[in-house]
Amino acid sequence: MIIDGCNRLHKTQCNRLREQFAQRKDVIIERQEQVTDAVIDAMSRGENSRLFAIMSAFVRHMHEFAREVRLTEREWELGVEFLNRIGKATHDAHNEGVLFSDAIGFSTLLCLLNNGNSGATETAAALLGPFWRMNSPLTENGASIVRSATPGPDLFARCRVVDPRGIALASVEVDVWQASPVGLYENQDANQCNMNLRGKFMTDGEGYFVFRSVVPGPYPVPVDGPVGDLLRAQNRHPFRPAHIHFLAFKSGFKTLVTQVFVDSSPHLESDVVFGVTRALLGSYKPGEGKPPADAVEGQWFTFEYTFVMEPGEAELPKPPIE
Ligand SMILES: [Fe+2]
Repeated sequence: MIIDGCNRLHKTQCNRLREQFAQRKDVIIERQEQVTDAVIDAMSRGENSRLFAIMSAFVRHMHEFAREVRLTEREWELGVEFLNRIGKATHDAHNEGVLFSDAIGFSTLLCLLNNGNSGATETAAALLGPFWRMNSPLTENGASIVRSATPGPDLFARCRVVDPRGIALASVEVDVWQASPVGLYENQDANQCNMNLRGKFMTDGEGYFVFRSVVPGPYPVPVDGPVGDLLRAQNRHPFRPAHIHFLAFKSGFKTLVTQVFVDSSPHLESDVVFGVTRALLGSYKPGEGKPPADAVEGQWFTFEYTFVMEPGEAELPKPPIE
């Protein structure tokens, strides 16, 4: 693990804590109360302040957690087994670790803490989820991301990217990915071709990117691993409301990772991964009159949304799957 950087506040706190521990002498542990300080002391000797800040807080909270719930040895065994199962359930096409973080609301918490003026204001950001793939096909503005037959209502999306003053942002790279109307991503479904319902768009001079797709369906998160066992033990349903994912990238702006929900979808109030915020309810409207393209059969929908990118560092997350 390489962790670099430490903001000024943390640095002062860490340094104070490290100095405090540097003055301590190694002790032989006599009581449970002494274990926490002994561990933090042992961790205080490295060079990396941020690593120390994170790990010492982690140890403090973990030890307090064990004290608070009076964790038994059998429960500890179960916990370790659960973590090991998360590792074993993770492979190139599935990330159980991200799913666990999502299912306990940790991903959403982290997202809200790090966006919207560091958690102070509403944000259009949302959790990345376990299905983003890098290198989705560059797709012409206005084209379709339906790359193999995908039955379901057609969707015509017209989205815009602006800065916090409302000024259009041109040449933003926007990744779009979504589940099919039956609720499966292409990498989970033998009936969809590679990269179906995924595409990378570039915003035009007015900040718009436009695409054709199908209306996504709600879907259950995978429940054949340890996270599924946890959900069943807690009597929780595994569903996510229907949504489309977006990742907007432009130099000089904080990469915007988000998802916009179908406002008529079931499970909006009980998303299994707690991803729905008020700002992310999209307006998916039934189309009226002549559809904006050929080969549209039956009901079709429009979707419009404006994404606001905050100034900051443009960096891409690590893809959870290949
Ligand atoms: Fe999703």
